[in-house]
Parts: sequence; C-alpha cells; structure tokens
Amino acid sequence: ASTLGAQAAQSGRYFGAAVAAGRLGDGTYSGILDREFNSVTPENEMKWETTERSRGSFNFGPGDQIVSHASSHGQRVRGHTLVWHSQLPSWVGSIRDANTLRSVMNNHITTVANHYKGRIYAWDVVNEAFADNGSGQHRSSVFQDVLGNGFIEEAFRTARSADPGAKLCYNDYSIEDWNSAKTQGVYRMVRDFKSRGVPIDCVGFQSHFGAGGPPGNFQTTLSNFAALGVDVQLTELDIAQAPAGAYTNTVRACMNVSRCTGITVWGIRDSDSWRSGENPLLFDRNGNKKAAYGAALTALGGT
Ligand code: G3I
Repeated sequence: ASTLGAQAAQSGRYFGAAVAAGRLGDGTYSGILDREFNSVTPENEMKWETTERSRGSFNFGPGDQIVSHASSHGQRVRGHTLVWHSQLPSWVGSIRDANTLRSVMNNHITTVANHYKGRIYAWDVVNEAFADNGSGQHRSSVFQDVLGNGFIEEAFRTARSADPGAKLCYNDYSIEDWNSAKTQGVYRMVRDFKSRGVPIDCVGFQSHFGAGGPPGNFQTTLSNFAALGVDVQLTELDIAQAPAGAYTNTVRACMNVSRCTGITVWGIRDSDSWRSGENPLLFDRNGNKKAAYGAALTALGGT
C-alpha cells in the first residue's frame, strides 16, 4: 500500500497521529490526516483541564469534534488521558482528603469514559505515574500523595466498569530502554496487575526520542512486556531531526513484535509538533513527505 495507515492495516496494525481539534479546519492538515492515518489521539482535548475544568462540570465539545471526524473517516480513537498529574485543574491538585479525591477521580473516569463509550479503541487510563529519579517507584503527585500506591489499580478498575469494550493502557515516556529503573518499575506493576487480575490490556511507550532514535534494546523491551500478556503500542512517537534510519529502527522494532498493535506519531507536520524546533515528524511545514516518511512506510512493508 502507499499510505501509512493502509500499509499498517495489512499486518493488522494501525498508524495514527495526535490531532488538535483547532487544526481540523486546515485543509492541508486534514488532507494528510485522512489520507495517511487510520487512528487519532486527541493531543489535548480529552485531558482533565479541558473535560472537567471545574468540579462536576464537563465539557466534551473539543473531544467530540475529533471523535466525530474520526468516525466519519474510519479512524480509530485512542483516548488520552483519564488520570495525569499534568494539565490537571488546580481544584483537583488542592484536594487533601482521600475520600474526596477518590470520589472525584472515579467520577471523572466514569463520566468521561461513559461519554465516549463504544467509540474508544484504547484509553490511556493513567499517564506518566512513574518517577524519573532512578527509584523505579511512582512519582509524587496529588493522586500518589493523597491516595497512595493503589490509585493506579483503582483507576483501571473504574475505567473497566465504565467502558468494558475499550482496551485499557498504562502510558509513559522513557520506558523504552529495558535497562532503566523506570522501565523495570512499570514492568513490575504490569506483572503484578496481570497476576492479580487487575484489568490492564496494553502499555503505551510514548517514544519521544533524540536524534539517535530508540535504544538498541527497544524491541527487547516491547517483547518482554508483550510476554506478560498485554498489547504494546508506540503512542507519541517523534524523533529530533527525524533521521530516516532512526524511524526505520523504531518502526521495525514494533513490526518485529506481534503484540505491537500500532504506532502513533505525535503530530502531523513539523509545525504542528510540541517540539517544532526539532522538526521531529514525518511531514514538513508545507505538508510534504520527508525522508523519514519513506523510511516509516518501507519499514511497515510498503512502497
Ligand atoms: O489552550 C491554551 C490557550 O488557550 C492559551 O492561550 C495558550 C497559551 O499558552 O495555551 C494553550 O494551552 C496549551 C495546550 O498545549 C494547547 O495548545 C498549553 O499552554 C501547552 O502547555 C499545551 O502543551 C501540550 C502538553 O502536552 C502539555 O503538557 C502539548 O500541546 C501536547 O503535545 C503535550 O502532549 C504530551 C502528552 O499529553 C503526554 N506525553 C508528553 C506529551 C508532550 O509533552
């Protein structure tokens, strides 16, 4: 096939992009989106600061725009994200009472997941809960500090009840290198969840890489997680300067692991990227394909 999504579909995978609702009216942007991609992730529109800016008052407008675009163009949707310490309204961050925070968290998960029920392929239920300090433990956050270690398990159980049809993922960055304490911490959590029957279906590896691309053991990391009985996905891929070889290595790592079910790049054109100064994506500012595009398509098996 001659597009990323169609080629990925030949092996039962998807190839997606992070999408901003405010850009859907840009014809160049939506032209590339609808030609190349068969999955979308709302870049900001399903985050807590947008969906529940004040307690109990929900706003699904921007997220709905993306979901309706996706459904009219045959694209699946990755929901991003239900519980995250960042882009969290200050009213949540200031709760100190555990019973209050537990009910606020569960109400948020239930209301958002229920609103989108049946339209979400996979939810990033909890995002970036592990620390970068080499401890392999959870990071400090209002959820961790007030609810304790059990908040992640509780979030997954609540999400499963709200939308039993969606795959439930844990999503994080810097967990691509097998020899890192953070990777090992997440691995132990997933192993524990699987052994105790806590509902988890997938792990998202954000894959925000420097110009060197993925660590040499990335495929090992993906297959070790998959061996626990979860799908693995590359959820926010971008690579500084987008070297073709680095994209090749990244896409190959996924293609070589049968439970690696899809890849999402974190934006369409370099000008759409949160790292736009690094030109990390597959399309240039004018919407033209870069060398990295050809590398990704070839690594998927296409021409
Ligand atoms: O919407 C407001 C706008 O009203 C305001 O005028 C403007 C002024 O700064 O800010 C706008 O909000 C920005 C928002 O993106 C929407 O454009 C925020 O400032 C900006 O911080 C926010 O950045 C997002 C970032 O997450 C926040 O942490 C990026 O777009 C988004 O790409 C990025 O995505 C994250 C993933 O969710 C999780 N993994 C890491 C990844 C990269 O940081």
